[in-house]
Amino acid sequence: MATRSIARSRPARFHRRILGPAALLAATLCLVACGGDGGEAPPSPPETVPAQPVPAPEPPATPAEPPAPTQEPAPPAAAHPVPAIDLAAGDAEAGAVHYQQYCASCHGPTGKGDGPVGAALDPTPADHSDASYMDALSDEHLFKVVKYGGTAVDRSPLMAPWGGTLSDAEIVDVIAFVRSLSGGGL
Ligand code: HEC
Repeated sequence: MATRSIARSRPARFHRRILGPAALLAATLCLVACGGDGGEAPPSPPETVPAQPVPAPEPPATPAEPPAPTQEPAPPAAAHPVPAIDLAAGDAEAGAVHYQQYCASCHGPTGKGDGPVGAALDPTPADHSDASYMDALSDEHLFKVVKYGGTAVDRSPLMAPWGGTLSDAEIVDVIAFVRSLSGGGL
């Protein structure tokens, strides 16, 4: 038993003691021979790759600016906003008072365009008692021309804007009266 184990272990030790160092030596020789002889140019040092210009860091996404409001030309309606008009809620009698005070000088007391001032104007004010003429005009049109003046509806600037004098509700009252002049309302 013991003998066998020694016999077995010998070759192992031989390998470790003799072959190990021999292999090491051979490797060393090879290294010296290969490196030192100059047969081949020593491997040139790795070319220094010129440092790539570091790409500028992406600018941080600009904080989302609120999108510029689209510059759409304001439609005429927006320039001369007209509220929902409920003529039924208009007080024609109150409107008549305003009409006599502010409008009759040109439009005449009954809206025939025969007021003392209106008669001298060119164009003369339309006849508010003419149903065929007045019916063609929407409530919105009447509101616009009274509040913003003739230019808001492509009419003469002689028809002045009354928005600074009359409130929206008062304008509705006046329109209710104007409608009555041609037979509507009142
Ligand atoms: C200084 C004179 C004058 C005064 C005051 C005046 N208007 Fe006029 N108005 C005119 C003239 C002129 C026109 C005609 C404009 C045109 O046809 O181009 C007109 C036109 C109108 C029209 C018709 C618009 C159309 O499309 O035909 C209405 C409605 C009207 N006026 C209402 C009023 C009311 C309501 C008042 C009072 C709050 C008033 N006006 C005060 C001169 C006047």
